[in-house]
Amino acid sequence: MIIKPMVRGSICVNAHPTGCEVLVRDWIGRAVAAKASMAEASKASGKPLPKATLVLGCSTGYGLASRTAAAFSCGAATVGLSFEREPSAGKPASPGWYNNRAFDRAAQAAGLYSLTLNMDAYSDEARAEVIRRARLDGLRFDQVIYSLASPVRRDPKTGVTHRSALKPLGQPFSGTALNMQTGELSTVSVEPAGQEEAEETVRVMGGEDWELWLRALADADVLARGCVTVAYSYLGPEHTWPIYRHGTIGKAKEHLERTVHTLNGALKDLGGSAYVSINKAVVTRASAVIPVIPLYVSALFKTMKNLGIHEDCVDQALRLYRERFLAQGGIPVDDEGRIRLDDWELRYDVQEETTRRMREAMTGDIEGLTDLAGFRRDFMQAHGFDVPGVDYGADVSEL
Ligand SMILES: NC(=O)c1ccc[n+]([C@@H]2O[C@H](COP(=O)([O-])OP(=O)(O)OC[C@H]3O[C@@H](n4cnc5c(N)ncnc54)[C@H](O)[C@@H]3O)[C@@H](O)[C@H]2O)c1
Repeated sequence: MIIKPMVRGSICVNAHPTGCEVLVRDWIGRAVAAKASMAEASKASGKPLPKATLVLGCSTGYGLASRTAAAFSCGAATVGLSFEREPSAGKPASPGWYNNRAFDRAAQAAGLYSLTLNMDAYSDEARAEVIRRARLDGLRFDQVIYSLASPVRRDPKTGVTHRSALKPLGQPFSGTALNMQTGELSTVSVEPAGQEEAEETVRVMGGEDWELWLRALADADVLARGCVTVAYSYLGPEHTWPIYRHGTIGKAKEHLERTVHTLNGALKDLGGSAYVSINKAVVTRASAVIPVIPLYVSALFKTMKNLGIHEDCVDQALRLYRERFLAQGGIPVDDEGRIRLDDWELRYDVQEETTRRMREAMTGDIEGLTDLAGFRRDFMQAHGFDVPGVDYGADVSEL
């Protein structure tokens, strides 16, 4: 069958297996190329490379990049968990399902332990299965990466399904939306969330589930001494705060950041520690749906590419491992104890230039002033389309 992209607004509803596979292999190639520098950083700091990494949300975006760095740059055994749609009669799977398959194949070929589970990470069954497999295969995780992004979470204790909202709090938000296919700009208004919606969002994207995971793993004795757990967050520039940082999702991220203290207490006896890492804005399936983000990210990419400091998920994951986890002394953090990988994005010159580009793009040449083409390509590639070297006219026999 020939697979063409099916894009509806900011969502692509299908995926290309070959494109996903080629892209995963490209990410792996970049991780392999960083292997020597990772070993050097480990030698210089005296910190060991990770031996066993659990990645929750392993199939796409930051989770996949982290798993790739752990396995192919550091040689770690990896267990990955994600919730992806399998292929069904004539219908391709979701991109993460193909990414996982490609990852497992490559890991196997490289002689690396890799176990991928397609389960609801919020369920107690998923925790029990990871623990069962870890015991069976003699794994003790020295790293747990928490990279879930989801609109819903079913509470395992109550059975209640919570839904997250992406809304401002207190007052309506009005911002510029960018149609990534046509380049058209429009004004979007989002009504503020009520108290209940804010609480629901915290239940989905806050730290409750992260804590359940770490407590379960510690109780089951499948964490290594000195283990490190990290969850990903985003801050962004001030003009996005009304919809992001000061909105419902920001409340959830604040909760995630507070959970670090709880986890540090829970991991104390093991000599373990928890961190939130504030990452850079990139194009993933999750980020494309946030109002104002496509215009901001397109302008940001143009600025950072011009300055030669643009990074994608893999660059960020490699920097996290090499220059944060394996840094000499402690892991470098900001005043609030957070790892910062958004340091280049939030540089004064980067933000000044990005804001200028956004302002000018409102009245003129959006394709020239921003990297809309790059945004669009990253979005398509996140679904296996637009990947160089793939023959999209060829028949795909294995779905
Ligand atoms: N995209 C960005 O620009 C950006 C920037 C900074 C921080 N972050 C953060 O990074 C984290 C990951 O985001 P992303 O953009 O890489 O998202 P993504 O959509 O690419 O990945 C989300 C992952 O979560 C998994 N998942 C979702 N629901 C699940 C469930 N019920 N059970 C198991 N797995 C499930 C998906 O399968 C996928 O592997 C989020 O916390 C996000 O806030 C993202």
